Amino acid sequence: MTTEKIALVTGANKGIGLEIVRQLATAGFKVFLTARDSQRGEEASQKLQQDGLTVEFLQLDVADEASIDRLAKELASRTNHLDVLVNNAGILLDAPNSSVLEVESEVILQTLQTNTLGPLRLIQKLVPLLTKSNAGKVINVSSGGGQLTDMGNWAPAYCLSKTALNAVTGMMAAALKDKHIVVNSICPGWVRTDMGGSNASRSVQQGADTVTWLATEAPSDLTGKFLRDRTVIPW
Ligand SMILES: NC(=O)c1ccc[n+]([C@@H]2O[C@H](COP(=O)([O-])OP(=O)(O)OC[C@H]3O[C@@H](n4cnc5c(N)ncnc54)[C@H](OP(=O)(O)O)[C@@H]3O)[C@@H](O)[C@H]2O)c1
Repeated sequence: MTTEKIALVTGANKGIGLEIVRQLATAGFKVFLTARDSQRGEEASQKLQQDGLTVEFLQLDVADEASIDRLAKELASRTNHLDVLVNNAGILLDAPNSSVLEVESEVILQTLQTNTLGPLRLIQKLVPLLTKSNAGKVINVSSGGGQLTDMGNWAPAYCLSKTALNAVTGMMAAALKDKHIVVNSICPGWVRTDMGGSNASRSVQQGADTVTWLATEAPSDLTGKFLRDRTVIPW
C-alpha cells in the first residue's frame, strides 16, 4: 500500500469545502476536490494547483445516486485507498422566517437528499477504499442547527437534515468500528460564505479548522462524536 495520504471533499468549489481542501493539501494530503458543476470545480482545483498544492478534480453531485456510483468507480481507478472523506456539500432551502408549522414536504425531501442521503450513500460506496487506509476517517459537516439539545424553529428542513446526518454519524461509527474507520460530525460555527452570509462571525479558515484537526491530529480512537472548535459538544 502506498503511504501517500489521500482525502476527498464534497461541495468543494467554494466556501468551507474549498478551504478544507486548501488546508488538507497544505498538510500534505493529495486531495480530490469534488463539485457538482464541472467548470466551477475545475477552476477551483486549478487555482489550488497554481499554489503548488496536490489537488485533482472529480465531478460529484451528492444528490444523484448515479453520480455517486460513477465517482466511486472513478476514484477506485485513481487510488488504491482513501484516508479521509469529508462530507461537506450542503444546501439550505428554507425560506427566511420559515416555520416547522408550515414547511413543505418537498423542501424537506430535497434537503434530506443532499444533506443526509448524499453522505450516507457516499460512505457506503467508499467503505472499500476507506478500509484500505491504515486509519480511515469520515468527517460529516453538520450544524449546531441539528443539535437536539438546542432545537429551535429556525430553518426546519435544514435542521432536520443535520439532526439526521448526526444520526448517520452515530450509526456509521458503530458499523465501521471493526474496520477501524472513525466517523464524526462537526459544526463549523457561523461562517462567512454564500450560505452563512457576510454578517457571520467566522472566517472559512476558522470554519475548516476542526475538520483539518480531525484529519491530522485528533486522537485516533475519537469516533461517533459531534465537535465544534476541536471539542466534543452534545448531540
Ligand atoms: N456557513 C455556515 O455558517 C455554516 C454553519 C453550519 C454548517 N455549515 C455547513 O457547512 C457546509 C458548507 O457550507 P458553506 O457555508 O461553505 O456553504 P456554500 O458556500 O453555500 O457551499 C456549499 C457547497 O455545497 C455544494 N453543493 C450543494 N449541493 C450539492 C450537491 N448536490 N452535490 C455537490 N455539491 C453540492 C455547493 O455547490 P454549488 O456551488 O454548485 O452550489 C457548494 O460548493 C454545509 O454542509 C453547511 O450546511 C455552514
